[in-house]
Amino acid sequence: MADKNFAKALNDQIANEFSASMQYIGAAVYYDAETLPRLAAFFYRQAAEERDHAMMMVQFLLDINAEVRIPDISGKESSFDDAVSPVRMSLEQEQRVGEEINALFKLARETNDFRAEQFMQWFVKEQVEEVALMSDLLNVVERSKDNLPLVEDYLAREQPGEEGEDPTAPPAAGAAG
Ligand SMILES: [Fe+2]
Ligand SMILES: [Fe+2]
Repeated sequence: MADKNFAKALNDQIANEFSASMQYIGAAVYYDAETLPRLAAFFYRQAAEERDHAMMMVQFLLDINAEVRIPDISGKESSFDDAVSPVRMSLEQEQRVGEEINALFKLARETNDFRAEQFMQWFVKEQVEEVALMSDLLNVVERSKDNLPLVEDYLAREQPGEEGEDPTAPPAAGAAG
């Protein structure tokens, strides 16, 4: 029963992760059209990461023999007033996802679902990093909103969010290895 509750909540989170992925594609497309290729690449990469998060959750549900539902995702924003808005929206999205992840962790703990709690631990750490990443980017974009090439230079120089493979990440469905 406990497992069933967590599985249902995790299926809801799969929808949230795919939704975040699609919203990041919307942001990437906006920057791509504005010829801000580093910002576009940053958001395409974030979109791929969110898809990975969803697929890690899919793999976990498969591993515990729970039902997996592939959700409908509603349309996402791909036009924005200015170059700051997508980053501000993304920070809010990461903060919201952080709360969702914490709620899943709490549910796992309160129902004594130890494997679910252990699974969620990686996501708790990941959200700390994602909120910090987006909050740094918002600082940079706000400071340089009238000189966006400076933002492009920052992304080229610092390569935020490009730390490569994380060996502690949970396995994702369909991924090699
Ligand atoms: Fe995520
Ligand atoms: Fe994220």
